[in-house]
Amino acid sequence: MKYKVLNKLKANMGLYVSGEALSEQLGVSRTAVWKYINELKSQGYIIESSSKKGYSLSEGPEVISAYEIGHGLETQVVGKDIKYFNELDSTNTYAKLIAAEGCADGTAVIAEAQTAGKGRLGRGWSSAHKKGIWMSIVLRPLIAPEEIQIMTLAASIAVAKAIEQECHVRPGIKWPNDVLLESKKVCGILTEMNCEIERINFLVLGIGINVNHDMEDFPEALREIAGSLKECCGGEVAEPKKEFSRKNIIRCILAELDVIYRRLNTENEEAYADEAKQIVDEWKKYSVTIGRRVKAAMKGQELVGVATDITRDGRLIIACEDGSIREVMSGEVSVRGLLGYS
Ligand code: BTN
Repeated sequence: MKYKVLNKLKANMGLYVSGEALSEQLGVSRTAVWKYINELKSQGYIIESSSKKGYSLSEGPEVISAYEIGHGLETQVVGKDIKYFNELDSTNTYAKLIAAEGCADGTAVIAEAQTAGKGRLGRGWSSAHKKGIWMSIVLRPLIAPEEIQIMTLAASIAVAKAIEQECHVRPGIKWPNDVLLESKKVCGILTEMNCEIERINFLVLGIGINVNHDMEDFPEALREIAGSLKECCGGEVAEPKKEFSRKNIIRCILAELDVIYRRLNTENEEAYADEAKQIVDEWKKYSVTIGRRVKAAMKGQELVGVATDITRDGRLIIACEDGSIREVMSGEVSVRGLLGYS
């Protein structure tokens, strides 16, 4: 009912709607209307109240909630259930917890801030309050555990497409799944899996996107390599930079991922191979790694060569300077281009 009140106010943006009209149209008491209005205000909506004129919603900072994200979202699996929090330690940690308790396939967990955000290779992930998108999606794919990387590739494609649609720029993807703009990392993906030898029980795709950060919002140590959508494509330095709608970007990612996930989630081997090939091909179009000289740091070993391709299970193929051809897995190595971060 609270959101019915909100929708009435949205339909009359900037105008007053009387408490009496709301109570009559929605069939609830005026006290109930007043209670819903207060709840909406505490969620961050800017609502003026006047004893004579009623209530008026005005444009304010974007409010994100499970309702705002899910309302009108036409996905079939991904994002059908959305759990929204002001703060969590890590959306991945929470998602793994509810996945183990049996939450629905496609459940999305979103937090405005993370106090212990996790990055790949045991690193942390800086997750400033309301600046970015900190989201984890629980999936229960039919694929074999060794094929899991295809889901990570799919997630990075979904993010790249969402950025293209919302920011009108074409991002690059640095293997395995960092999304870059102007050679700065704007998104990282951490995939965690719970599986048996032959089947995946669930996986959690953790997506972190720096959206409306100014440079000072990043810890100093990250300022060289990290960027945000606002910093990289929010306009010229002298202008006030444009902020992007986190809600629209989230909705776009959920919609893109829903399509890719349903295509991939087939038990028909041939159909799966075909879909996986299409994903790898699409990923390669965004890749800033293939064709580049790279250095792969593995435990106690360093490979230098040219990245030539990736395999269906997400391994990077490197033609090394010593003449050998090596395949490296993302969990084992950190790859850097020889010129800067990308
Ligand atoms: C990386 O190191 O590039 C991966 C970063 C992944 C960060 C996201 S933010 C949402 C989700 N929750 C986490 O704790 N980590 C992922």
